[in-house]
Amino acid sequence: MSFVPYLLSVHSPMNDQPPAIYGIIGNPLTHTLSPLMHNAAFKALKVNAIYKPFPLEEEELNLFIEDLKEADNPIFGLNVTIPYKEKILPMMDGANAFAEKVGAVNTIVINRQRKLFGYNTDGPGFLAHIKEVGFSPEGKRIAILGAGGTTRAILSALALFDERPESIKIYNRTYSKAKELLEDLSCRLDMSLVEVVPTIDDLNIELADCLINTTSVGLKPTDECLVDPEMLHKSLFVYDVIYNPQETALIKCAKEKGAQTANGLGMLFYQGTLSLQHWANTQLDDKIKDVMRRALEQGAKVQ
Ligand code: ATR
Repeated sequence: MSFVPYLLSVHSPMNDQPPAIYGIIGNPLTHTLSPLMHNAAFKALKVNAIYKPFPLEEEELNLFIEDLKEADNPIFGLNVTIPYKEKILPMMDGANAFAEKVGAVNTIVINRQRKLFGYNTDGPGFLAHIKEVGFSPEGKRIAILGAGGTTRAILSALALFDERPESIKIYNRTYSKAKELLEDLSCRLDMSLVEVVPTIDDLNIELADCLINTTSVGLKPTDECLVDPEMLHKSLFVYDVIYNPQETALIKCAKEKGAQTANGLGMLFYQGTLSLQHWANTQLDDKIKDVMRRALEQGAKVQ
């Protein structure tokens, strides 16, 4: 089966058609910046398309996906976010090898035959961002806080990356969830470098090269740093996937210790550009990427 997506180029503003719809499904979607980024790109690309949030309750998901297969449905592409990235995979008509390995889909392409094809751009988005900020995981000791969907994507990307880290340790509040995640990924990917540890202390942050926070701790401005700030040090690269607030307590403490830091806005940007490339079935030029990045950065400032 071929999965040629409905090219953005056919959504010409000249053709008097109603706009093609793209969007994001998830719950909650109150703070999503994806519409800002993609609508800015559509405008710059001069295509007759809009990107909307579709907050969905769990019981609405099946019907929403079934409706996508109807010939007159105007939706041609979707992002998927919490809590549906894993649930959606078996609902696809097909998925690329990376999404199958991750076991999660964050991008759906709907082609002219209304077939649904799933991709995962979170992992590649993370790798592209750390490359941009100059961090190579090769030979590094990596510590991860959290074992949700974001850790799933990051672990899969690191596992498939040619330049292998020395070790990856994961700590999660609910130990069993981290164990389950590792067991599940181990069925499809080489997870021999990865170890789930029972306490934060076992992460050995003082000896690590990189600390990644994928938990929601830090989202509230009153949230304290999950780790003991004394463990942070200047040869650590600290990556917090939270970008709102732009500076979590973890990032603040890390900066105070002289550590290199980055937040997840770059990961969001890269996953978004990769999603749009799947929908458009073409590479985006740098001008469009700049428009997307600026829209995101402005949106993050306003929030
Ligand atoms: P995502 O897809 O963004 O990774 P998620 O799947 O909801 O989001 O995962 C959220 C992560 O934050 C989980 O690892 C969760 O830990 P549990 O598995 O124990 O629920 C973690 N988390 C949320 N609140 C936390 C808290 N107060 N302290 C520590 N970890 C927390």
